[in-house]
Amino acid sequence: MARKKFIAGNWKMTTNSQSARTLAQGVVKGLGDESSVEVALCPPFPWLGIVAEEIKNSPLSLGAQNVYPVNEGAYTGEVSPTMLADAGVKYVIVGHSERRHGMGESDFILNRKVKAALAAGLNVIFCIGETLAERESNQTNSILEYQTTAGLVGVDHGSLSRLVIAYEPVWAIGTGRNATPEQAQEAHAFIRSVYGNLFNAEAAENLQIQYGGSVKPDNAAVILGQPDVDGALVGGASLKADSFLAIIRAGLGK
Ligand code: 13P
Repeated sequence: MARKKFIAGNWKMTTNSQSARTLAQGVVKGLGDESSVEVALCPPFPWLGIVAEEIKNSPLSLGAQNVYPVNEGAYTGEVSPTMLADAGVKYVIVGHSERRHGMGESDFILNRKVKAALAAGLNVIFCIGETLAERESNQTNSILEYQTTAGLVGVDHGSLSRLVIAYEPVWAIGTGRNATPEQAQEAHAFIRSVYGNLFNAEAAENLQIQYGGSVKPDNAAVILGQPDVDGALVGGASLKADSFLAIIRAGLGK
């Protein structure tokens, strides 16, 4: 069965309460009742409630950008998986390079986050990707294999239908320099094979793998047209309803 395309907007640490509301309204209006593609909006924590309200009668899903791997306790400043679920969140991004490299999150803590989020019933968008230095020294596959294996160790087969992987080459994020469709396809096919070895062939066949890194309306169709590219995790171009909707249409093949 063909995998459904999944387009998610990662708003990162941008927007304010009003612009978040307006952006969500614009996407809701433009998407209408189109449900042959999955679409999620991942605003900053303080606007989760606002966006939840705006998307409640639409096919859109709510996503969060981070989570702490414990459900409750003395963890000042952190947000738990059960709190996110309670707030109406369906997806949570784990392992974004801005957290791996910017905030120093280790494979170990990311694995804990993946498992805790899945245990709370959330869907996880697990991000992996190589740096430019790693690509240039031919380590791309070994990095992708390591991050996938370390991040997903101990994940039970029963929750695999709620797991999405996002391939985000670090050198393509926010740089305007996207991976070529061939580079994306090659990495995605490799990730799928690693995943198949970790779990099984059926799980690998069903796995949605998003590409992220400078996806724009003008490159989305060709990237999303690759056989192993099942969607996009979009940063900058998700901050305008028009450009995000154009990427969604590209995902629909329109
Ligand atoms: P850009 O689309 O701005 O390159 O960001 C990609 C990204 O990091 C999505 O998570």
